[in-house]
Amino acid sequence: MPDRNALLFSRHIESRRHDTDHILSELGYDALLIHSGRPEMRLFDDHHPPFRANAPFVAWVPQPFAVDSLLEIRVGQTPRLWFCQPDDYWHVPPAAPADWWGGEFDLHIVRSAEEWHARFSEHRSLAVIGHERDLAALVENADLNPPALIQRLDEVRTRKTAWERECISEANRIAAGAHRAAARAFESGASELEIHLAYLAAAGQDQDHMPYNNIVCLNEHAAVLHYQHRSPTRPEQLKSFLIDAGADCHGYAADITRTWTAPEGSDFDDLIEAMDHVQQRLCNRMRAGQSYVDLHREAHLGVAGVLEHAGLVRMSPDAMVETGVSSHFLPHGLGHFLGIQVHDVAGKLSPDGTPLPPPEAYPALRLTRTLEAGNVVTVEPGLYFIPMLLDRLRESAHAEHIDWQGIDALIPFGGIRIEDDVLVTEGDPVNFTRRFLDD
Ligand code: GLY
Ligand code: MN
Ligand code: MN
Repeated sequence: MPDRNALLFSRHIESRRHDTDHILSELGYDALLIHSGRPEMRLFDDHHPPFRANAPFVAWVPQPFAVDSLLEIRVGQTPRLWFCQPDDYWHVPPAAPADWWGGEFDLHIVRSAEEWHARFSEHRSLAVIGHERDLAALVENADLNPPALIQRLDEVRTRKTAWERECISEANRIAAGAHRAAARAFESGASELEIHLAYLAAAGQDQDHMPYNNIVCLNEHAAVLHYQHRSPTRPEQLKSFLIDAGADCHGYAADITRTWTAPEGSDFDDLIEAMDHVQQRLCNRMRAGQSYVDLHREAHLGVAGVLEHAGLVRMSPDAMVETGVSSHFLPHGLGHFLGIQVHDVAGKLSPDGTPLPPPEAYPALRLTRTLEAGNVVTVEPGLYFIPMLLDRLRESAHAEHIDWQGIDALIPFGGIRIEDDVLVTEGDPVNFTRRFLDD
């Protein structure tokens, strides 16, 4: 694996250099500095939330937790990395760069940001990416986060290199094992907190290393899309379990959701199975040239079909989608780009940077582009019983078409989401998640 890593990473940097040299030349910049970032303290405090390096830095340097390092890119030259290893007995400094990735850079080890700060005071045609608060005088004679440059660099990140695909696949492998452990913990009657801890232990990653806060829901909590707590209390009756949790590999994310029920064989179990079919059909539709907005509409039709088949809504799927009834059960988007950021960049811009806002009916849709080979997307249709949205439906003109008794019986189960990470190609899509997690 180290040799393979070295080869893939070397090609990744070659590709980044090629694209970035081209972009810098076109925009008239001699050099680009990308800061890894610095933790920001809480107000009036000397503690900070968990730190993660700026994504444009991680797009080059596989060190998602590096503080105060700086990447210096000059057209036609080996990129220089000012890698910060502070003299610090309060914390463990980052390990020295390993050969497989460090070899791609002109490496300069520094002990503090001051060492690289002083070097760029008199520079012309300099672009800098980072937070102004971290960079002080460095940005006085430079363009800070110029939008045209950011858009062009973001666009490059929408088509994953072989290295990036490998990282996302490996993150899926790690997360898949942890999802299995979480399902076992649920079966044994564990609380949300216990399931969360079982997940982290199986992943071998602490929450601070996860790409996002694990969403661990028992029963009606599954109706809260980004449920943020993990109750230590075991519910008296276990009905359902939804877990949306990922893993990290060299700064790249997995983003996976599974829904389970106990006992099996209930109406809710049938809904999970039906949603799994809808989800797998959609995964298979992730192909170059497809409009993701159209796929989102197909997801609504699929969920509407499940509701009709279960007898919960007495309307045709077309009518449910047309009238917005399906949005009461699926209030989020089909998915999003995935990469260094869980909701990765440029999902709502065309390749030339023109905004592509979501349709009015689907304001939460995070990806509105036509798919291209190399995109990695999530596919995460859901079907929820959210009291707030059901109340609105109850008051609407469509209420008479709903089997309210059936719906009310499902509210304690919360909802269903099934989410995989899929690579778009010119041919068949590659489902990174089901490679490792075949339920
Ligand atoms: N885990 C957040 C999401 O699925 O978008
Ligand atoms: Mn997602
Ligand atoms: Mn997710």
